[in-house]
Amino acid sequence: MFRIFVGNKVYMTRKIPEPGLSMLSKCQVTLNKKSSAPSRTEIMKNIADKDALLCMLSDRIDAEVMDVATDLKVISSYSTGFEHIDVKEATARGIYVTYTADILAEATADLTFALILASARNIINADRYVRENRWKVGWSPDLMLGYNVHNATLGIIGLGRIGAAVARRARGFNMKILYHNRDRNLQMERELGATYSELDELLAQSDFVSIHASLNNKSSGLIDKTKLRLMKKTAFLINTARGQVVNEADLVRALKNNQIAGAALDVFEKEPLTRASPLLKMKNVVLLPHIGSATYQTRSKMSEVAARNLLDVLDGKDPDPAFLVNPQVKSVRPLGG
Ligand code: DGY
Repeated sequence: MFRIFVGNKVYMTRKIPEPGLSMLSKCQVTLNKKSSAPSRTEIMKNIADKDALLCMLSDRIDAEVMDVATDLKVISSYSTGFEHIDVKEATARGIYVTYTADILAEATADLTFALILASARNIINADRYVRENRWKVGWSPDLMLGYNVHNATLGIIGLGRIGAAVARRARGFNMKILYHNRDRNLQMERELGATYSELDELLAQSDFVSIHASLNNKSSGLIDKTKLRLMKKTAFLINTARGQVVNEADLVRALKNNQIAGAALDVFEKEPLTRASPLLKMKNVVLLPHIGSATYQTRSKMSEVAARNLLDVLDGKDPDPAFLVNPQVKSVRPLGG
């Protein structure tokens, strides 16, 4: 069993907000002080003698990294996604993998709704129009016409905590809610008034298609040209989940050909978005720099949970099951309980 002592060595790949930072002050923390992610070489070098890692979704933690981290007991990710960690490999080595689970669901749902509204009502283009001094006529009957959000049909792909939080907001707008999920969720259907739909049907019926599926082999590239062709010409695609769920080249083509009305994206196949991306030149897209969970309150809660998860394991306590990615690890390396 492990016990926290001042010498517990932690590698933190980015500075996290309070209170997490202070909570870890009892450990010997090596912090990447840059505002950018550490390189692979830096990760390999810094993790070598550490007991714990606090990482972000931009850090790839695979077998090669674990090979050099022979003392590693816990990988605590400051994220809800954990596709950047080789969980199977960690489990086999008795390394606990924790994440911040659903804590960011409400903040991400808020942002999703902001994107639905921004794209439907030309918010970004209209703001630029005013700033760039192009507003010359006081009121015009046809200026910046957009689409109704109220009474429209919202198609949610992935009805987990974030998808459900988006559905709850949509109810306030009197939207018709369709969802597609690996499994039907009858309780959610009752609670949210959502209707289960096959993916193709959802794409064909929805005015707004919002992606909330986690990234895995099945969801990677799910929305490609064949799927985009099913969408209405007046529909918008919203993505606050993972860029890789959408085939970006196919989306660019669909937008160029006005196959769909627009897209609002917080996530991309490759982040940051390269300057060469054709998306940057398109008027019918809203682009954000992956800020779904970026509120003071949410990031602070995430920092507390990420630090607590890490300290629990170092202290020989099982982390809260809600935040443990690999419960099977308990039989490989049992803690005190
Ligand atoms: C996560 O934690 O996985 C989110 O994408 C961050 O907003």
